[in-house]
Formats: sequence, structure tokens, C-alpha cells
Amino acid sequence: MHRNLILGIESSCDDTSAAVICDGVLMSNVTASQSVHEQYGGVVPELASRAHQQNIIPVVDQAIKQAGIDKSELSAIAFTRGPGLLGSLLVGTSFAKGFSQALNIPLVEVNHLQAHVQAHFIRQVEGEEKQPEFPFLCLLVSGGNSQIVLVRSHADMEVIGQTIDDAAGEAFDKCAKVMGLPYPGGPYIDKLAKQGNPKAFKFSKPQIADYNYSFSGLKTSFLYLLRDEMKINPDFVKENLNDLCASLQETIVDILMKKLVQAVRDLKIKQVAVAGGVSANSSLRKAFVDYGKKFGWEIYIPPVAFTTDNAAMIAISGYFKYLSHEFCDLKEVPYARVSNVL
Ligand code: KG4
Repeated sequence: MHRNLILGIESSCDDTSAAVICDGVLMSNVTASQSVHEQYGGVVPELASRAHQQNIIPVVDQAIKQAGIDKSELSAIAFTRGPGLLGSLLVGTSFAKGFSQALNIPLVEVNHLQAHVQAHFIRQVEGEEKQPEFPFLCLLVSGGNSQIVLVRSHADMEVIGQTIDDAAGEAFDKCAKVMGLPYPGGPYIDKLAKQGNPKAFKFSKPQIADYNYSFSGLKTSFLYLLRDEMKINPDFVKENLNDLCASLQETIVDILMKKLVQAVRDLKIKQVAVAGGVSANSSLRKAFVDYGKKFGWEIYIPPVAFTTDNAAMIAISGYFKYLSHEFCDLKEVPYARVSNVL
């Protein structure tokens, strides 16, 4: 029987990832993360491209082996074309082009943000998972983006609201940095917040029009609180770390959910999903469950493995495009940014 086997390649930031999907079902998903950036407190683009170059061949090799297939069986190669760091994207793009030429199979380009949303359609066991129905709303929250996306189909996604400054992940990471936590700070805040009181501190919340977000005011108010308190007590952060994390986390989640509630109400769409790296956050996941119960939403929360950057989401996006024969020309080049239509 003919199988549609798609190899997905992701290299938009600091994770080199490859995955194989067979007829929509995940067969392998291998990721090499780059620890080299930790000491710099953020991703260093030049170092990221070099590490991708080192990782890409072993990662692809492992993904094909783990899928239990031979490369000659692949139907198409899907790759992240953007948005992301250009030097990083170039590694995955060039590799995908070369490999598709060598195997004489189609090449499929994937938008990284669209792929985060499509992560909801990855099946791990044939026919088992509940998947969103169109149209649905997706809160897409990562280190670089905070958006509310109206998803009409696999190919038709509209950004109806987005951050006008920092992304939610950036707010987590930057506040973590001023507390002296390692990079990326989001997961550390999540962990410490579990022992803290979310009502201990109050931070400013933005008054922004429409479904848009802003996190720069929160970041500043967090910074000022620390600066003022540390003048009085230099051990303020150490002594209040859990409460600071819990209060900050609750504020970020409240900001995110408020606009989502507004969008659900206005558009009368009760299928609501969350995606992106920040959707790994336990408090945001809980908020989805609670709001779902309270407002009668049908909620979709991805497995943690598909929240941060991974190639499984690229492979599933590539699979849908492959089925509709949307192939990519070899002359296409990566892009760093995107418009409002994903
Ligand atoms: O989607 P992603 O892997 O990369 C981008 O494409 O941006 O998201 C990374 C972001 C980082 O800001 C990281 O701190 C955040 O996701 N993150 C979290 C958690 N896990 C990852 N933020 C809060 N709580 C978490 N558990």
C-alpha cells in the first residue's frame, strides 16, 4: 500500500529538529537543543547557525532510523522557511533543497507560526486524538510571538491580534533574567511559581485596543519593584523568589486570557486552542481548563513535546500541503518576518 511519508526539518532558532510523519501519524521526532547559548542569556544567531550545521545531518539520520524507514521511501521534504533567524533558517532550507534534489522528491515550505497551530493535528496513535474543528481560535504564544489566530482551515489562518512590543515568552525570560535565573527563564518561573503566592505582588496590566497584547509595561513595573525593594533589602529577590514568580506568572496568564475571552465572545467561536513554547506553562494550561469549564469552550492543549520548537509540527504542516500539491520552488529563500496572514 502506498504511504505518504513526510520528512520535516526545523531550524528557525536554536533547536535543530527532524521528524517523520506517515499518513498524518508521527513516526519519529528528534531534536538537538543548543546549550551553547545559556552562558550568554539569550540566543546568539551566529553560534546558532554553526550548531545547526553540525547537528542537521545526525538529527535527520536519526529521525529516519527511528521511523524505521529508508530514505528512498520518503514522499516529500518539508522545511521551515520562516519566520526566524536567517542564518539558522538557511541551514535547514539548504539542506532540505539538497536532500529533495538528491532523492528527486517534492519540496514543501512551511511557515513556522502556522506549524505551531498545526501541532494540534499531529496524531501519535492512528485515529485516537481529538482534533480541533474549523473554524477555531488559537492563542499562539512563544518566545518571539503572542498572537490570537483565527484558523479557518489548514491553509487559511488570520492573525486577529498580536503583541505590539514584547512577546509573552520574552516577558517570562526577561523578568527571569533580572531575578538571576538561567535562560530561557520561562520553565524556571513555572517551577518556582508552584511554591509561591500569586497574589503576593501586583504588576501593571496593559490597556491596549482590540485583541492586541503588550508586555513591555509589565516588564518595566517588575523591574522597578525589584529595583526599589532591593534598595531597602538586597536579599529581596532571594527571599521572595517563589512569590515573585507566582505573581508574575499569574499576571501574564491573566493578560493572555482576557483578550482571548473577548475574541471568543465577539467571534462566537468556542473551539479554542493554545500553541507555542509558552503553552508548556502549567498555569496557562490550567487557565485553559478552567475557562473551558466556565465558558463552555471546547479546549485543545497540545502535548508538552509539541509546544516548543519541533519538526513534528513542520512535518504535519508539510503533509497537508503535500496532499494539496503545494510544492515549493528551489529558488525560494528563507524569510525572517511575516505579515498578518499566516
Ligand atoms: O516556541 P518556542 O520554543 O520558541 C520560539 O519560537 O519562540 O518558545 C520558547 C519560549 C521561551 O520564551 C520560553 O521561556 C517559553 O517559551 N517557555 C515557557 C515554558 N516553557 C517554555 N514559558 C513559561 N512556562 C513554561 N513552562
